[in-house]
Amino acid sequence: MTVNSAWPSVYAIRHFDEIDSTNDEARRLAQTGEQGPIWILADLQTNGRGRRGRVWQSPLGNLAASLFLRPEKSVAECAQLSFLSALAVADTIGRYATNSDVRVKWPNDVLADDRKIAGILLESASAAGNRLDWLAVGIGINLAGHPEDTEFPATSLVGLGVAPPTTRDALGLLATSWARWYDVWMTRGFEPIRDAWLARAARLGTRIRARLQDEEIFGLFEGIDEAGALILRESQNRTRHIAAGEVFF
Ligand code: BTN
Repeated sequence: MTVNSAWPSVYAIRHFDEIDSTNDEARRLAQTGEQGPIWILADLQTNGRGRRGRVWQSPLGNLAASLFLRPEKSVAECAQLSFLSALAVADTIGRYATNSDVRVKWPNDVLADDRKIAGILLESASAAGNRLDWLAVGIGINLAGHPEDTEFPATSLVGLGVAPPTTRDALGLLATSWARWYDVWMTRGFEPIRDAWLARAARLGTRIRARLQDEEIFGLFEGIDEAGALILRESQNRTRHIAAGEVFF
């Protein structure tokens, strides 16, 4: 399916046939003094990384891209960009997978029909005074294929029965949506991003399992706080705000 979008002005693009990791390229751009924003797209990644040190497989036909930028914001504020990115990814997938239920999952996955179809990996370096020096928003979208042996079940557009777009077309939609949400964030802050994210959150208000560093807890998924931490109600009088972990249904 072809879904057209105009490329957002201001954002540059660098397209590689093959690269180690688009996030690594973002780091190299930072070291050479680039200012960004620059989208880096690769047809193939030889060393794609996922969260928690996992390998991220992106075979030919899947989208592997990173946005390199230098937001003039604090480290804490920039962490909010993972939620904004999940919204842009969900928008993009929703344009193709029109018959699927596309949702976001804390902290920054996107699901289609309850299966993971995209992942996001933010990497950054901070500067003096708690400011961010640079940020890489790494995004992998399973367009043409997905792994079968994952702990959380995965899918792809092809797995959903949808003809996959070219990675360049998908990036056009993603970049456009990302730029739109970024403008919202810059002018109105995190609140509208959080509201939009919660409106699309999978299993909001239901009992979920969260795996933290040294424990696993169950509770009602009540929302996310101003810092993006997961709010889980374990019992009538005990609510936990979880900054890092993984969620299962
Ligand atoms: C996850 O574990 O869910 C996050 C996956 C992020 C993968 C993307 S693909 C583009 C960018 N380059 C990488 O090496 N990783 C991210």
